[in-house]
Amino acid sequence: MDDIKYTPPKHIPDVDFGTPKRTSSKRITLNIDGRDVTVAEGTSIMAAAVDAGVMVPKLCATDSLEPFGSCRLCLVEIEGRRGYPASCTTPVAEGIKVHTQTDKLADIRRGVMELYISDHPLDCLTCAANGDCELQDMAGAVGLREVRYGYDGENHLNQAKDESNPYFTFDPSKCIVCSRCVRACEETQGTFALTIQGRGFDSKVSAGNKDFLESECVSCGACVQACPTATLMEKTVIAHGTPEHTITTTCAYCGVGCSFDAEMKGEEVVRMTPTKNGGANHGHSCVKGRFAWGYATHKDRITTPMIRKSIREPWQVVGWDEAINHAAGEIQRIQAKYGRDSVGGITSSRCTNEEVYVTQKLIRAVFGNNNVDTCARVCHSPTGYGLKQTLGESAGTQTFDSVMQADVIFVMGANPTDGHPVFASQMKRRLREGAKLIVADPREIDLVANSPHIRADYHLKLRPGTNVALISAMSHVIVIEGLVKEDFVKARCEWDSYETWKAFVAKPENSPEALSEQLGIPAETIREAARLYATGGNAAIYYGLGVTEHSQGSTAVMGIANLAMATGNVGREGVGVNPLRGQNNVQGSCDMGSMPHEFPGYRHVSEDATRALFETAWGKPLSADPGLRIPNMLDLASEGSFKAIYCVGEDIAQSDPDTQHVTHALESMECVIVQDLFLNETAMYAHVFFPGASFLEKSGTFTNAERRVSPVRRVMTPKNGMEDWEITAKLSKALGYEMNYSHASEIMDEIAALTPTFKGISFKKLDELGSIQWPCDDEHPTGTPTMHIDEFVRGKGKFFITQYVPTTEKVNAKYPLILTTGRILSQYNVGAQTRRTQNVVWHDEDRIEIHPHDAEDRGIKEGDWVGVTSRAGETVLRARISERVQPGVVYTTFHHPGSGANVITTDNSDWATNCPEYKVTAVQATKVTQPSKWQQDYKKFSDEQIGFTQKLRKQTITTQ
Ligand code: SF4
Ligand code: SF4
Ligand code: SF4
Ligand code: FES
Repeated sequence: MDDIKYTPPKHIPDVDFGTPKRTSSKRITLNIDGRDVTVAEGTSIMAAAVDAGVMVPKLCATDSLEPFGSCRLCLVEIEGRRGYPASCTTPVAEGIKVHTQTDKLADIRRGVMELYISDHPLDCLTCAANGDCELQDMAGAVGLREVRYGYDGENHLNQAKDESNPYFTFDPSKCIVCSRCVRACEETQGTFALTIQGRGFDSKVSAGNKDFLESECVSCGACVQACPTATLMEKTVIAHGTPEHTITTTCAYCGVGCSFDAEMKGEEVVRMTPTKNGGANHGHSCVKGRFAWGYATHKDRITTPMIRKSIREPWQVVGWDEAINHAAGEIQRIQAKYGRDSVGGITSSRCTNEEVYVTQKLIRAVFGNNNVDTCARVCHSPTGYGLKQTLGESAGTQTFDSVMQADVIFVMGANPTDGHPVFASQMKRRLREGAKLIVADPREIDLVANSPHIRADYHLKLRPGTNVALISAMSHVIVIEGLVKEDFVKARCEWDSYETWKAFVAKPENSPEALSEQLGIPAETIREAARLYATGGNAAIYYGLGVTEHSQGSTAVMGIANLAMATGNVGREGVGVNPLRGQNNVQGSCDMGSMPHEFPGYRHVSEDATRALFETAWGKPLSADPGLRIPNMLDLASEGSFKAIYCVGEDIAQSDPDTQHVTHALESMECVIVQDLFLNETAMYAHVFFPGASFLEKSGTFTNAERRVSPVRRVMTPKNGMEDWEITAKLSKALGYEMNYSHASEIMDEIAALTPTFKGISFKKLDELGSIQWPCDDEHPTGTPTMHIDEFVRGKGKFFITQYVPTTEKVNAKYPLILTTGRILSQYNVGAQTRRTQNVVWHDEDRIEIHPHDAEDRGIKEGDWVGVTSRAGETVLRARISERVQPGVVYTTFHHPGSGANVITTDNSDWATNCPEYKVTAVQATKVTQPSKWQQDYKKFSDEQIGFTQKLRKQTITTQ
């Protein structure tokens, strides 16, 4: 890619204003060192000085934290006022004259620095933070030349390091007790893992008298980021030295979409620091994005293309041309023999928008059918459907920042502290400020059970599978008790649809009293929660896979939209319907037309005008018939008529339900092409393997849960030789259709030209603005933070009847427990990335959580092997006895393939979208002594497949 037209921008280092930005509309003018400056009321003198171009020395202040005023280095003089106030804690006042540099101030500051340095190791030259240490900078800034107190008095220099955290060290000998770490853990992260223990000279930072690994710390890195010295320091910086250049990019893990500065030394990442100006994260991060990027260079990565005739044969390493031509030949052969519709492809929410776009283009324009689907099928497809029907757009309505205006936060079927940790920190901040919290979840999520200074006003501990009943019961209360905002409904919604809905929810069968038993929640609690949601001020709903992954997932999404419209909670800050998307680019992959019935921008393939637009642009006739969804492809493969699949970045053998059905389907195909970083579970059934590039090796964009399109920038050369869109383009060329792009930016230009909501988006504009929330067009040139402000995208909002239909997946004597699934902070999705990082120290196996009563009934003790049997299959997991699940419910995560969580999930699915019902599986749990038959077979098969690649690695090494 030498002749690229697009050049990424140069990184501009952040300026630290010392104290957070204030937003008052009242402006104050003051004079600092002879310069007039005008700032918002409430701004500190320190921040005003930075605004005026004057840097006041500081140690305990940083602009991500509220001022604390402990180090006394930032003192200033104010004419007419006595003493030397700290500029970080003193707000500006109209007309004051401030001096930051006087002989007296210089003396005081040098004195303060002397005290700090006299109890600090003098190893600057060999310290990992040399050149990147605020203490060192401040010693220079105050002109410290000597330390009169000597270094041999009582000191902290011999205190032992805590190296327990896999990613950072804590070296208390270097600590200046500025408390920035403690405040970062409280204010930014909301975990409260750190305290300052002791007083005066004996004060020290403590992680609750435990080492960091054993403590409450969730390894978010906020304290490391805040520490002005080398006390808290990334181990990668200690190992590799300070970085030399920086490129801003976007985290490839969850749907929060945090912006990160990849700090580099040549081609090596030294550390990832959250970008202060990141629109979604504002300088915060979680353990995954901040530290768990080592998978990108893990030894398991496969970087050479491979082919083989059958999955029982070893792989053969080939060049790119041979691999591409072989794959193209197979697709042509299969289509000639079995018909045009016998092939298809799956994209992933881990891919960039540009990669998804070219993949669906390949399938529609070159394969000649619409057999393209994405992993959103198994997570948020009901969101796409439900929100489109009711509000008119398949996307969340707000920004994350909007939560700071919410008075009532209703979290339904989501576990933000684990699934969307950076947003959870912001939400927790708002909750600590006093917003009310309603949680609807069968299990005690951390927000309920483990969040200091936060209390759920209502935890609606419903039975799995009863979301729609809960929504109906809450709607009933709102309608019957006259809490509907009829003015809003009259002005903004289809009145007829409202009246029909109103009559439906008002029926006695939808009352809390009628549904209480099925829900397992007292009727009065439901009534109180409904009243709070309807009357507590700005109310915002945040929901996740606990809503969508059900047989009535789409119904529940529509019910949520009904609730928001009925109470007027749409169309402004602090309210809305907010789907928390699981993976980094779930929103984007759907936006980019990766569903079988929709072109990019959610336009149906049967619309003649849309098809004509794409036919003209692509120069190919396009099918008007919706293609196959993933489950249809798998069913037809098992039946023998679907024969080849191109699977880009998605691991259906692990992530899709009913594993044995999926693997049988894969085994039945004649050509499985997998494009990925690792030999994932699906690749074990593949005939062609295209090695993919990691997010650090490619350019493109991801779109997060708030519709924010953010740039992904290439920070190192792809180890496999090319970016993923180039592989797809080469396959297309080998199939006779050239895609003439020279850079991902040109793919975005094509997307913008063909997709109205992306019309104004380009790489250049993303460089200027940092990120853009779609729709971005002539009317909204810098994007749209809040949707549906004056009217809904569909014009009038539409209410839908949401009749509760209990799932057919019923408990009985044979399967008396309900299994529900979820995620954990340290692991991500199928774990292919996080399992290849040090994150395994927090979660090295999936366990089955079981209530003490159910465990006792079965003689199961903590750590015992438990056989979990469902109508679909059996697996064995170790037990964790926990009251976080209710009696009758068991829970597991699904991050490790050998756990076989999806061996037991069934093929029940959402009526509208086929999203699997992962959250409700009737099971039995019994104490056992050995792995299940599936696990034994899996181990044998997977050992054999891994053996094939190990042989291949040896061959590659000897032939190189
Ligand atoms: S560890 Fe760092 S941030 Fe925390 S008190 Fe010590 S020097 Fe300050
Ligand atoms: S890494 Fe995060 S959670 Fe852990 S102590 Fe630091 S700020 Fe707190
Ligand atoms: S919250 Fe999500 S996007 Fe942000 S760093 Fe963590 S995993 Fe990455
Ligand atoms: S920076 Fe103001 S007192 Fe420390």
